[in-house]
Amino acid sequence: MSHTRVAILISGSGSNMVALAQSMQGDHPARPCLVLSNRPDAGGLAKAKAMGIPTAVVDHRPYGRDRAAFEAALRDVLDTARPDLIALAGFMRILTAEFVHPYAGRILNIHPSLLPKYRGLDTHARAIAAGDSEAGCTVHEVNPELDDGPVLGQARVPILPGDTPETLAARILPMEHRLYPLVLRRVVKGERGLITLP
Ligand code: GRF
Repeated sequence: MSHTRVAILISGSGSNMVALAQSMQGDHPARPCLVLSNRPDAGGLAKAKAMGIPTAVVDHRPYGRDRAAFEAALRDVLDTARPDLIALAGFMRILTAEFVHPYAGRILNIHPSLLPKYRGLDTHARAIAAGDSEAGCTVHEVNPELDDGPVLGQARVPILPGDTPETLAARILPMEHRLYPLVLRRVVKGERGLITLP
């Protein structure tokens, strides 16, 4: 059986990439085919290499504000890996409609908030400042709007008195590592029903 090929895009530590890659083993119908970072110094690159996953870097900095040129370079590298699915995992660049369109329905992202609340950055600080009683993370399909595509999975955690963005992030990250692999497996199997944790 040929496996579904999954490219994982990262910008940092790649803890979500590791969770996804570790889940794609045994009878899992998918396998990671590439870990691609926009940052040469991303810690996740070494982790991917250690797991025997092909890696690539397309440094966004030489492209300056020329987003189209950066995305064309991304696409060239991705095309060689022939991914069936793309998983953004701590990937911190905004992708334009021109990039997303050819992969429509085949790009997933994990965002550290209970979308549609808190699109964008600093999600934990914003949830705490708003006095919310809970926070969490969301896996969604990527569409050309920022953090806006159909929600495929959500995980909720309580916000506790005295929480800081760091303590809240530490409570959510393990839930990300559970949620994303669950959603990926269902998407690969052609199921798009909402997953909620706990
Ligand atoms: C995580 O909070 C994730 O939700 C966000 O980027 C952060 C770091 O992710 N997208 P990772 O450790 O690089 O996977």
